[in-house]
Amino acid sequence: MNGSWFCLVTVSSIAMLLYTCQASRSLHPIILVPGTGGNQLEGRLTESYKATSILCNRWYPIKKDKEGWFRLWFDTSVILAPFTECFAQRMTLHYDNDLDDYVNAPGLQTRVPHFGSTHSLLYLDPNLKHITAYMAPLVQSLEEIGYVNGETLFGAPYDFRYGLAAEGHPSYVGSKFLHDLKVLIENASNSNGGKPVILLSHSLGGLFVLHLLNRNPLSWRQKYIKHFVALSAPWGGTVQEMLTFASGYTLEVPLVEPLLVREEQRSSESNLWLMPNAKVFGHRKPLVITPHALYSAADIAQFLIDIGFPQGVHPYKSRILPLMQQLTAPEVPVTCIIGTGVKTAETLFYGGSGFDKQPEVIYGDGDGTVNLVSLLALESLWADKKTQPIKVIRVSGVSHSSILKNDTALHVIIREVNVINSHDYVLD
Ligand SMILES: *[C@@H]1O[C@H](CO)[C@@H](O)[C@H](O)[C@H]1NC(C)=O
Ligand SMILES: *[C@@H]1O[C@H](CO)[C@@H](O)[C@H](O)[C@H]1NC(C)=O
Repeated sequence: MNGSWFCLVTVSSIAMLLYTCQASRSLHPIILVPGTGGNQLEGRLTESYKATSILCNRWYPIKKDKEGWFRLWFDTSVILAPFTECFAQRMTLHYDNDLDDYVNAPGLQTRVPHFGSTHSLLYLDPNLKHITAYMAPLVQSLEEIGYVNGETLFGAPYDFRYGLAAEGHPSYVGSKFLHDLKVLIENASNSNGGKPVILLSHSLGGLFVLHLLNRNPLSWRQKYIKHFVALSAPWGGTVQEMLTFASGYTLEVPLVEPLLVREEQRSSESNLWLMPNAKVFGHRKPLVITPHALYSAADIAQFLIDIGFPQGVHPYKSRILPLMQQLTAPEVPVTCIIGTGVKTAETLFYGGSGFDKQPEVIYGDGDGTVNLVSLLALESLWADKKTQPIKVIRVSGVSHSSILKNDTALHVIIREVNVINSHDYVLD
């Protein structure tokens, strides 16, 4: 199935037909940008690491490479409570007031393996391919139409715990990722005869891509970017994130006790970035209701105080909130492919016993994780923007993560990639 996905027989002259067949063999390179938790992370403990429990000592985990690196994410031992605590402590970020930036836990170094390749985003745990498959089915579908890892197909894994910050604030890890991604885009294009690339993101990856585009000049975008395809992107955040901050949330790993991971989840800068955006959810609509208060997307700072996470308020107000205002149209073609019709947390009700108990949830439309209004946010925000081509494709009944695995969804994604690749010579 190498490259020759089909010849367009819509042209009249033989010469044109030959040209079309030849052109169809050279694909626009694709760069995959995963979502939260969507690629492996490695850790290494230094002398200054302080164990918080006997189990969480420097010997754990036993399996490390010669230089001491081990897989921090994802490791299945996290489902056993004592290890959950150890894992959560190591995954926790710290906001450093003097640096005005987020940093790792003391004594922990981290790195993202295989940048540039699809390798670390196929399976979260390569020893448990079946249950931890992430982008593997999507990559396989792309390979079936001729894409080859390292030649026309690339991966941009990153440390998804970190986010970006508004202008004037350092964001060492996130900015370095955007820089590396930019170089990867230029390399992918240069090694494919100067063809501009297709950026294909999932979830949080879409927010990073949008900022990458808007932080580079229009001339750069026009030279290097063919199209941006965003799968399941939470443009305006999610109500789910308020649940995560208030009570902990463990959908991905159902056996884990939510409160054991709540501190770690609260510490993640990218989680804070995914709080509901008032521009999208409105300033009035109550998203969380308690016997004492109503919280809309405009009340996140107060919400952080009331749930017992006042440390989050300063970075939220200074770094994140102004960043969330920036959903600027990048003026390159954008396609959003989204799941709909899956019940998605829309309003959270907490009773008298506070935020430690899981709330009652009223559900609305979305992909099970992201609310429909957030999935559709760019389409509404850019409605009057004549210079911004945007298309939204809805796949009914497909969830936030199954969009990467479900046959119907994969078919829709591949069809869109084929359409983008054929744009060069289809005269319509
Ligand atoms: C880009 O290409 C340069 C030169 O070939 C290479 O040294 C570098 O590692 C590449 N970087 C990425 C991210 O692909
Ligand atoms: C994919 O999703 C569609 C829509 O929900 C569903 O009908 C179909 O059964 C799913 N396919 C698989 C293989 O799960």
